[in-house]
Amino acid sequence: MKIAIILGTRPEIIKMSPIIRECVRRGLDYYILHTGQHYSFEMDRVFFKELELPAARYNLDVGSGTHGRQTATMLSGIEKILLDDTPDVVLVQGDTNTVLAGALAASKLHIKVGHVEAGLRSFDRTMPEETNRVIADHISDYLFVPTETSRRYLLDEGIPDERIFVTGNTIVDAVYQNREIAKEKVDVLGRLDLSDGGYFLATAHRAENVDDPVRLGGILEGFRLVYEEFGMPVVFPAHPRTVKMISEFGLDVPLGTLMVEPMGYLEFLQLEGGAKLVLSDSGGLQEEACILGVGCLTLRDNTERPETVDVGANVLVGCDSLRIIEGVRKMIGVRGDWVNPYGDGKVAEGILNIIK
Ligand code: UD1
Ligand code: UDP
Repeated sequence: MKIAIILGTRPEIIKMSPIIRECVRRGLDYYILHTGQHYSFEMDRVFFKELELPAARYNLDVGSGTHGRQTATMLSGIEKILLDDTPDVVLVQGDTNTVLAGALAASKLHIKVGHVEAGLRSFDRTMPEETNRVIADHISDYLFVPTETSRRYLLDEGIPDERIFVTGNTIVDAVYQNREIAKEKVDVLGRLDLSDGGYFLATAHRAENVDDPVRLGGILEGFRLVYEEFGMPVVFPAHPRTVKMISEFGLDVPLGTLMVEPMGYLEFLQLEGGAKLVLSDSGGLQEEACILGVGCLTLRDNTERPETVDVGANVLVGCDSLRIIEGVRKMIGVRGDWVNPYGDGKVAEGILNIIK
């Protein structure tokens, strides 16, 4: 059996890393096809390097572009590779344009598709990710869902039960595998002169937030209010899209917000684990904060990770500065003793057992 692992962005590399490691450990016949959706060193190669992942056999180098152009370039490139180096199963992870292109190319060639992190729904079709998820789920043969909630969503959409497998989320494996390594290899608090529990960690990159001056401005104003009231810095490793938009809109990074380059996974995981709270519109951060026992404020009006809200690890605050500061007041004393709903850290093993 030959497996093709298709990935293209930062979170896909991180969440596929446990599956790649398990393929290596079992000596499976597999290859990595990188679309090149992310390409800057700190969004891409840093993760291959730090996580000691084997290089991709193919890289399409598609780069950035409009949705149609980017997805179409990937689709035609992936199809060519799948015809030349045909796998029995293609694995995709998450909800990016890479996932849509990978699942569609494979499905049209009648190659089995396994969707890792299937069944997430924000029920907000204005998000490009929601379109990608829905389409990928409906053309996949194996739907590896993190929780029973996702299984129910898929059943409601008419997807047959025999295609759905509740496995947990590989992010738990990634966190467990790397947080000990991080302790030995990096000291991000020392590098940034921070104390454990003495800062907030923030990220933002969602198109609907950072491409809108009012929403992005609201987020930055929220950070200002948080620093003003609590006197602890807001560490802000900024996605390149966000850096570009802050400059395009002429916004100011407020006093107390430490905007830094995106980080490698080891440093970032350490920073997340030591944060007082996490403020973010990221999908992966909602899960990781929950796993690490750190409270999270989600800078969005909806979430496809309702489990984190249900266990008390996460609140939705949108992009209004007053709601952000209210959310921080509410979450600041949170104890972090909830049960992680996303699995036991052996999720990748479970997924490969099912495919076998
Ligand atoms: C993409 C995904 C999003 C995911 C995010 C993870 C889609 C539709 N979006 O969003 O779901 O949460 O990745 O981070 O697939 N850029 C760089 N260097 C890079 C990559 C991007 O400078 O390596 C800049 C470019 O200006 C680019 C912009 O970021 O135009 C947006 O990149 P893109 O891949 O289109 O979307 P993301 O916002 O990264
Ligand atoms: N991450 C990282 N360095 C950073 C910011 C994030 O390693 O500077 C990791 C983070 O730990 C998580 C993933 O990137 O595993 C989340 O990616 P992102 O927020 O870009 O995408 P999303 O999860 O929203 O799709």
